Amino acid sequence: MDDPHPFAPSGRGGKRIVVMASGNGSNLQALIDACADGRLKAAVVGVIVNRRDAYARERAAQAGIPCEYLPLKPYTEAGRPRADYDADVAERVAAYSPDLIVLAGWMHVLSSAFLDRFPGKVINLHPALPGMFAGTHAIERTFEAYQRGEVTGGGIMVHVVAPEVDAGPVIAQAEAPILPDDTLETFEARLHAAEHALLVEATRRALGG
Ligand code: GRF
Repeated sequence: MDDPHPFAPSGRGGKRIVVMASGNGSNLQALIDACADGRLKAAVVGVIVNRRDAYARERAAQAGIPCEYLPLKPYTEAGRPRADYDADVAERVAAYSPDLIVLAGWMHVLSSAFLDRFPGKVINLHPALPGMFAGTHAIERTFEAYQRGEVTGGGIMVHVVAPEVDAGPVIAQAEAPILPDDTLETFEARLHAAEHALLVEATRRALGG
């Protein structure tokens, strides 16, 4: 069968990944790089963003990967149910025939209208350990908890997405230490570097490597 997206780099032979992102896209970049240098026998064949100013769009463009901007706002403004948006996003994602969908900083909770279309194929990166700091601003909340003496460090995990927020079977996890001299910025930089490595490894596992 013809590849529906033959323009995607390394789109033939390897596994097909769609990345969904809302922001900087440094984790998208980590996956693009790992595909390019052979650490992943796969290609990022499509990128979905839900924010107009997401730098992930620029990264996709630089890599020659199709990127679609799919905002939620037109749906909420029209009074349409959230499931309509999720179903339409699923339709766009399905057009890439993905083997795996990676949520890398995707800032919307996806309902069963999306997830039921790709059972077991959607994984999410979360900047905290399982059961810790679900939801937004997890890095800031970890650092504040550290300053209050409630935790000794932070962590990161990649999990299969379940309907609950930031929960589901864990594929890989790692601790992200907080050092005595850390500021939020230095802690965040160390955590993001660890995320990039963990996400590549978790993606490899999820693809069956
Ligand atoms: C990461 O910290 C990820 O854990 C969280 O959102 C951030 C995305 O960073 N879910 P980037 O856009 O990949 O740079």
